Amino acid sequence: MINLIDTLLKEIQEVQVKTAQEVEQLRVRLLGKKGEVTKLFEEFRNVPAESKKEFGRRLNELKNAATAKIEELRQNLEDSAGASECSFDMTMPGDTFELGSRHPISITREEIISIFKKLGYSLAEGPEIEDDHHVFEALNFPPEHPARDMQDTFFISNGVNPILLRTHTSSVQVRTMETQKPPIRVICPGRVFRNEAISARAHCIFHQVEGLYIDKGVSFADLKQSILLFVKEMFGPDTKIRMRPSYFPFTEPSTEVDISCNICGGKGCNICKGTGWLEIMGAGMVDPNVLSACGIDPNEYTGFAFGMGVERIAMLKWQVKDLRLYFENDVRFLKEFETSI
Ligand code: PHE
Repeated sequence: MINLIDTLLKEIQEVQVKTAQEVEQLRVRLLGKKGEVTKLFEEFRNVPAESKKEFGRRLNELKNAATAKIEELRQNLEDSAGASECSFDMTMPGDTFELGSRHPISITREEIISIFKKLGYSLAEGPEIEDDHHVFEALNFPPEHPARDMQDTFFISNGVNPILLRTHTSSVQVRTMETQKPPIRVICPGRVFRNEAISARAHCIFHQVEGLYIDKGVSFADLKQSILLFVKEMFGPDTKIRMRPSYFPFTEPSTEVDISCNICGGKGCNICKGTGWLEIMGAGMVDPNVLSACGIDPNEYTGFAFGMGVERIAMLKWQVKDLRLYFENDVRFLKEFETSI
């Protein structure tokens, strides 16, 4: 019987199979209820007592070898199946990723920029972390000037020229004037920061697009016509503008621009609070002091500047009255703008 164990062991070591079916047949032949190994176990009781120990050891060895071999053969077949016949169809179309939509602020900003690009303006950008010189001083805000209070500032460091978060993108206009020679015609979009309590109508972060045009003989009439052209493109050809006198340290004269209410057509409604007009931007002729501070001769050149809040324009365009919605990024809100791209 030891001979039989040896023969079976040898056979097990050399066995080769091609299919899972053959592995199963082998398992049944050796380890099945009537299998050869099982039968040998049954004959164990007939083995003389003195050989039981040796026989038992060899029998267990055989059983373990058979079990291990069958497992190994199975594994090999599975591995090669995985490698040769791919279990998925590579020609199937892939899972599509759901596309996001553009943010209403981006849509509005791009629209404003594209209108001014058509008028010959080029894009200028600058840092969000600025210094006092570019945000205030060069723009004719003397130290301690009360106009600085108009824009509550986040300061990063104190000193002779404090570092701060820009409160408007007029700082980019300063940088442009300092580095370029007129004629200058730039549009400066960007994020700005003011230390204000967050509410439906105010936020500590918002976006602006400011513009600057400097050349020989630029007049207030040019400013008026450029803004009129812009609002007609942005809000429709019937839109009218109205300019109210205002004050900014960096422009003289200064004005605040209103458009006729695009909801009621100027008759008066709750959006325009019955006035028929909606404020959209500040503007004015660049103050000669600003031109000098930036190295441009005010006797030779004049220019105009304007600045608007992108959120404000977006609010008027879509009648979204709570500013906070633009910052919360609730997908249900953002999805409403998918078709506006
Ligand atoms: N910088 C001004 C603001 O942030 C807007 C403005 C720009 C006004 C240019 C006049 C001219 O409020």
